Amino acid sequence: MGKKIFSGVQPTGNLHLGNYIGAIKNFVDLQNQEGNECVYCVVDLHAITAKQDPIILKNNIRETTATFLASGIDSKKSIIFNQSLVPAHSEGSWILGCIARMGWLNRMTQFKEKAGKDKEKASVGLYIYPVLMTADILLYDATHVPVGEDQKQHLELSRDIAQKFNLDFNAPNFLRAPEPLIQKNFSRIMSLKDGTNKMSKSDPSDLSRINLTDHKDQIMNKIKKAKTDNDPLPDDDENLSQRPEVENLLGIYSSLSGQSLKNSINEFSGKNFSEFKEKLAELVVEKISPISVEINKLQKDTSYIDTILKEGGKRANSIASKKVEEMKKIIGF
Ligand code: AMP
Ligand code: TRP
Repeated sequence: MGKKIFSGVQPTGNLHLGNYIGAIKNFVDLQNQEGNECVYCVVDLHAITAKQDPIILKNNIRETTATFLASGIDSKKSIIFNQSLVPAHSEGSWILGCIARMGWLNRMTQFKEKAGKDKEKASVGLYIYPVLMTADILLYDATHVPVGEDQKQHLELSRDIAQKFNLDFNAPNFLRAPEPLIQKNFSRIMSLKDGTNKMSKSDPSDLSRINLTDHKDQIMNKIKKAKTDNDPLPDDDENLSQRPEVENLLGIYSSLSGQSLKNSINEFSGKNFSEFKEKLAELVVEKISPISVEINKLQKDTSYIDTILKEGGKRANSIASKKVEEMKKIIGF
């Protein structure tokens, strides 16, 4: 049987190779598996849990949408929309916020990390972020949610909330507890400058990441300057974890070429880094350049992007508004 997939990406701009390998590439693979129904959401309501400039936010919503499309998410096969177009997300989030317990939210590590030392100054929205995420998922009866390891705790919370709602209102199986889909291989792409840090859009050094909007020569240059070490390329994976930069580059090569890490090690054992980097750069350019060209092209056509979102929003709305109406009936409204 096919899966019902829901996932979301925040429109924070500058999506990079880590986002592509860790999330978006997976979205495309799931979309292309026979029988799956996929909903991919640009979660703009989540984005405003931190302060946003309205003009930049609007741009980023379009850029993230363009990235979805350019990467191969097909608006005919999948529903693509931005969250704020569908009122049921906010409405469902309020209702589920009355089901979730403070004690549950107090355990969320992402809130603790993002709020930092001065929790009193964090927005209330940031605190209830995982409740909105729960509404996102439950409104579509999603069976599977592809996310990074860092979102696993939020998925567990969404299961708890679904179960408590069903129990409190004696509505067995009304809200469906979703399963997380967490990639096993290459789920953490690291910085090109420091193999112990995740590739991240907030790293001050642009050389640390390949942006999905980078041009060919930027990509070549960044791979050329990527940190390695003084030992030759390895013959096996025995001590690879002690060479994080090398492991990361071999991981990127494996993921983009669709082969195992072992095969990549065999392909390059005994070769020197300049040869490996040349091959790697060629591969990254081959896979990422068409995406970057397409993003840059799509971004110029804002009305096309807006139409895609609007159409997707309509389809999403017809699913989510029904579910929220059923929720309201069950509650007694
Ligand atoms: P973020 O940009 O942190 O909001 O993440 C969007 C999606 O990309 C999430 O599913 C993350 O798990 C994934 N992601 C972000 N950075 C990386 C990375 N360096 N390696 C792998 N996946 C990542
Ligand atoms: N919280 C997710 C992240 O930061 C984004 C997100 C919002 C999401 N709603 C979701 C992911 C629903 C999966 C399902 O990556």
